[in-house]
Amino acid sequence: MRPRYVIIPAGGSGSRMGSEIPKQMLDLRGKPVLRRTVELFMDLPFKVGIVISINPSIKDMWMEYCRQNNFVFKSILTPGGLTRFHSVKRALSYLPDGGIVAVHDGVRPLMRKEDVAAIFEEAEEHPAVVPLMPVQDSMRRLVSDGVTEIVDREEYRLVQTPQVFHTEVLRKAYSQAFTPEFTDDASVVERTGVPLHFCAGSRLNIKLTTPEDMVLAGALIDSGCLR
Ligand code: C5P
Repeated sequence: MRPRYVIIPAGGSGSRMGSEIPKQMLDLRGKPVLRRTVELFMDLPFKVGIVISINPSIKDMWMEYCRQNNFVFKSILTPGGLTRFHSVKRALSYLPDGGIVAVHDGVRPLMRKEDVAAIFEEAEEHPAVVPLMPVQDSMRRLVSDGVTEIVDREEYRLVQTPQVFHTEVLRKAYSQAFTPEFTDDASVVERTGVPLHFCAGSRLNIKLTTPEDMVLAGALIDSGCLR
């Protein structure tokens, strides 16, 4: 088995949440969002080395929280970059070749541990594993200001994290120059010609973006469906 790692990009500012506190540090049923995300990778049936790319403006808040709440775990903290691409690239420089690395948004704390474990297993077989979700709503394409056209939703999939890669594959991908089309790790890896292997995502794995998402997240935790 290859050694396993997770990079947690938490370098963003979370402006869409409309809150003073960056969304990684917002309280979600008694714990900051980022703690819940980190906990997904703790106490799995195998060890996972953790690298967190953190927005410098919240580093002190995070370290103070961990100290005061006795949340003790081994991790590497690196400063977030200008974009998610730059945050992941810097974090990756701490990891050796020959491993498997999951890249998981710091603002996606809602997963079942068995799903986290399963995607690492898929990456033993495949160098690049990416979870996809079908689209539930009808979809329209924005043609121009105020003009839209219906599209066939069956032709589209939503992309989630964790996306999981062989470390050397991800490193080669991240040696490319940044372009704004690189919105996730799969898009960076695909550009190097490595085939992507797709697996099923989960409706529970919400990317916490707006205040409404926090309400939904609280309800999901209370329901016990994440255990
Ligand atoms: O901005 P977006 O919603 O795509 O952010 C997804 C994840 O990437 C978040 O966890 C965010 O904190 C992280 N991010 C980062 N560095 C940035 C911007 C976003 O690590 N410069």
